[in-house]
Amino acid sequence: MTDETTGFPSTGTLRIGFIGAGRLGKTLAWGLVRAGLDVCAVASGSAASAHALAQPIAGCQVLDAQAVVDGCDLVFVTTPDSAITPTTQVLRWRPGMASVHCSGVTEVSALSGAVRDGAWVGGFHPMQTFGDPAVALACLPGSTITLEAAQPLMTTLELLTQRLGCRSNLLPPGMRGRYHAAAGYTSQFINALFGEATVIWRSWGATDEDALKALLPMAQGTLAAIASAGIAGGMPGPVSRGDVSSVEKHVAALSQLGEGTLGFYRQMCASTVPLAIERGSINAATAQRFLSVLASK
Ligand SMILES: NC(=O)c1ccc[n+]([C@@H]2O[C@H](COP(=O)([O-])OP(=O)(O)OC[C@H]3O[C@@H](n4cnc5c(N)ncnc54)[C@H](OP(=O)(O)O)[C@@H]3O)[C@@H](O)[C@H]2O)c1
Repeated sequence: MTDETTGFPSTGTLRIGFIGAGRLGKTLAWGLVRAGLDVCAVASGSAASAHALAQPIAGCQVLDAQAVVDGCDLVFVTTPDSAITPTTQVLRWRPGMASVHCSGVTEVSALSGAVRDGAWVGGFHPMQTFGDPAVALACLPGSTITLEAAQPLMTTLELLTQRLGCRSNLLPPGMRGRYHAAAGYTSQFINALFGEATVIWRSWGATDEDALKALLPMAQGTLAAIASAGIAGGMPGPVSRGDVSSVEKHVAALSQLGEGTLGFYRQMCASTVPLAIERGSINAATAQRFLSVLASK
């Protein structure tokens, strides 16, 4: 059945397939099924991955990629980014169906094989971390999904986003590079921050496990403060209190651990100074004192 307003199969009858049964593919497929949608076919590089995606879904078949395209109205291409174009180029698509990838940084035009054959193409990038699919599935509701498509596919992708309990975000053309770089700040760069902090913990003999147990609840508290009071308003730490002498002690202590550790601290700490000004807790003169301490040898 075709939706009268979109010209695309209505979400109630939409046959959804996946090519690529990795971390994101599994999570998204299971999320769509949980939302009452019909995920009916999957192909992947290995049969084992495809079966792992299909196993919890009643009626989902493991097929080859061409059979997935032939049997579905909407195919999510959830291979690694570098495989999107070569995988989709060799398939025969058809007008009236859609091919959608989930990359944040790869342009939608990478689905050039589908464009060539007259299918609709789109981007559907969930701003979430997909590691363990079971964990990621629990985190999916409330996430933002960045959409890119022409009508009628856009309306369908917006409906799927709503059904997943997510909010949609639209991106102007040409912005994927900077948009995806920014996503890294609250994704893998958090891992880098934990890594840097753990290096310091190791310096007095603590284990990585001790460090993680101590740092994780604090990070969760920081996220809760940001959620309730905003990026500047929810910022803790000595800079937010105008406490220059504590930062002096940090610089002196970290100088014993090498320029790499100290340099990272200098840059991170300097980035909190404009936030403290925005928060209204330090003035320009105090900000300058912090920056001088951070620049000192
Ligand atoms: N992970 C994240 O946090 C995240 C977040 C947002 C967006 N994304 C995007 O989601 C997409 C998938 O990423 P991922 O992290 O899920 O990758 P992944 O875990 O490495 O999974 C990729 C899957 O694609 C399969 N595959 C590789 N080449 C294939 C081919 N030619 N044909 C069919 N299947 C093929 C692999 O097969 P086998 O396992 O069968 O060998 C694997 O299961 C990427 O575009 C990525 O940018 C990922």
